[in-house]
Amino acid sequence: MSSEPCTFIVFGATGHLARNKLLPAMYHLEEAERIPDKTSIIGFTRQALDDDSWNDQVNEILTARARDGLKDNVLANLRARMHMLSGDMTDAESLKKLKEYIDSNESISNNLIFYMAIPPSLYARVTQALHDAGLSDENGGWRRIVIEKPFGYDTESAMILNESLHKHFSENQIFRIDHYLGKSMVQNVLVFRFANLMLEPIWNRNHIDHIQITHSESQGIADRAAYYDDAGALRDMLQSHLLQMLTLVAMEPPASLDAESLRDEKVKVLKSIRPITRRSVNAHAYRAQYATGNINGESVPGYLSEQNIPADSITETYASLKLYIDNWRWRNVPFYLRTGKRMAKNSSVISIRFKHPPQQLFRQTQIEQLEPNWIVLAIQPSECLRMELQVKKPGLEMDAHTTQLDASYCATGSTQLDAYEALLLDVIENDCSLFLRYDEIHHAWETVDPVLKAWDTQQDYIHTYPAGSWGPDDSKLFDRDDQVWRNEIDS
Ligand SMILES: NC(=O)c1ccc[n+]([C@@H]2O[C@H](COP(=O)([O-])OP(=O)(O)OC[C@H]3O[C@@H](n4cnc5c(N)ncnc54)[C@H](OP(=O)(O)O)[C@@H]3O)[C@@H](O)[C@H]2O)c1
Repeated sequence: MSSEPCTFIVFGATGHLARNKLLPAMYHLEEAERIPDKTSIIGFTRQALDDDSWNDQVNEILTARARDGLKDNVLANLRARMHMLSGDMTDAESLKKLKEYIDSNESISNNLIFYMAIPPSLYARVTQALHDAGLSDENGGWRRIVIEKPFGYDTESAMILNESLHKHFSENQIFRIDHYLGKSMVQNVLVFRFANLMLEPIWNRNHIDHIQITHSESQGIADRAAYYDDAGALRDMLQSHLLQMLTLVAMEPPASLDAESLRDEKVKVLKSIRPITRRSVNAHAYRAQYATGNINGESVPGYLSEQNIPADSITETYASLKLYIDNWRWRNVPFYLRTGKRMAKNSSVISIRFKHPPQQLFRQTQIEQLEPNWIVLAIQPSECLRMELQVKKPGLEMDAHTTQLDASYCATGSTQLDAYEALLLDVIENDCSLFLRYDEIHHAWETVDPVLKAWDTQQDYIHTYPAGSWGPDDSKLFDRDDQVWRNEIDS
C-alpha cells in the first residue's frame, strides 16, 4: 500500500457531505496520525470564502463532531494542511487556476485525489473539465477520483456515466464509494464467515431457511426533498447498500483478500440473482410511502406534506424485495430485503434464520414449538453479533427456551469509527477493495431495473404506512406463513 504524500481536492467543500462526513473524518485521521506527512487538503467551492470565515466554520463543525472533544493541536495540524480555493469546478479555466496553484506551490504534492462531494449530475462535466485543464494527466504524480453514490439512475445511465469517466480515468483510478462497506461490522461479515470454520458447513440451502436484510430509518427526508423524490427508497438504499450486504453474506470464499478477488466473488453473486421478470414484479417487490404518524411520541407529517414534495408524488419511501440466488449454495433460499424512512427505529441488521431440525424429537414433551436458530448481525446503530440457540429451561420439566450468545462488543454506544475514516484512508493508500468496481454496479442496477420500470408505469396508487411503524404489510412477499420480518435484535 502506498502512503505517499498527496493532495486531497474536495469539490463541493461547503456541502452537507463535506461538512458532516469528510471534514470530521479528516480530523479523526489527523488525530490518529494516519494522514501522510506533507499531505494537503484543498477545498474547492463556488463561494467566495476567505480563510477566516472558513476557519470559523471548520471550528464550529468540528466542535460539534470531534469524538473526544476538539483538541487544539490536532486542529492546528489539520488547518496547516488546508487551503480553500474559489471557482467553478465545471469550468476548465477555473481548474487551470487550481493547477497553477498546485504547480507553483512546492509544498503541495502532485499526487492528486479529486473527491466529488457534488451533485451526481456534475460528475461527467467536472471530469471533462479536469481533463481540459490538464489535471487528469498523470504527469509527475498519480491521479485518483472518488465518486459518491448514486452511480447512475438505472443500468443505462450508469453505463453512460461510466463511459464518460473512462474517457479520462482508468478503472484503477476510480474509487466508487458505498460508505456502508466502510462500516466495521459490514467488514466483520467477512471475518465472521471466513475465519470461523464451524460456520461454513451450515452456510447454505441445506440449513438456512431464509435471510433478511433490513435498513430502517426513523428520520424522514430532511432537506433532501429534490434528490429523494427523484430517487425513492429502491434506488437510494436497496440497489446500493442492501445489495452490497447481500453479496457479502452470500459470496463464496475469495481466493485472497485482494480487491479483485473480493470483487470477483461479489459480482458472481449479483450475476446469479434470478432475474425478476416484468410479470413477477408484484410477487417480488413492494413499495409504500409514509403517512402521518408518531416518532418518539411526536406527531410527524406524512411524505406528501413534507416541504417541496409534490402533493401527488408516488415516490416510495419504503421498498422491499424478495430475491433468489440461483447457485449451488443458495438455490431456492429467499433473501428478503427492505428499507424505509420514518420507520420505528434506526437499524441495519442482517438476520439469518435456520431450518427446523429434521426430527420432532420433543413432540411428547412440554416443548410445543421449537423456535428456529437465528444468527443476527447488527450493523448500526450498535454493532452486534448474536446467535440464538434453544436450551432446556431449568427445572423438572422438559421445556426449552431461547438463549443468546453475544459477541462481546454487542453494546450500544461503543466507540465506532465512521465509515468515511476507513474509506478516505483506503483512497490515500490506494486500496480499492471496499470500493465498487463498475460491474458490481451494473449488475446491481440490472437486478432492480425491471422493478423500477414496472413501478414507473404504475403511477396511480401507492400503499402507505404510518410514520413510526415497521412499515406496510408486505407479507405477501414471504414464501411461507412462518416467515415474518424480524424487527428487533432481541427476538
Ligand atoms: N449528504 C450525505 O450524507 C450523502 C450521503 C451519501 C452520498 N452523498 C452524495 O454526496 C454528494 C454530495 O452530497 P451533499 O449532500 O453534500 O450535496 P449538497 O450539499 O447538495 O451539495 C454539495 C456541494 O456541491 C456544490 N454544488 C451544488 N450544486 C452545484 C452546481 N449546480 N454547480 C456547482 N457546484 C454545485 C456546492 O458546493 P459549493 O457551493 O461549495 O461549490 C454544494 O455545497 C452527492 O452525490 C450525494 O448523493 C451524500
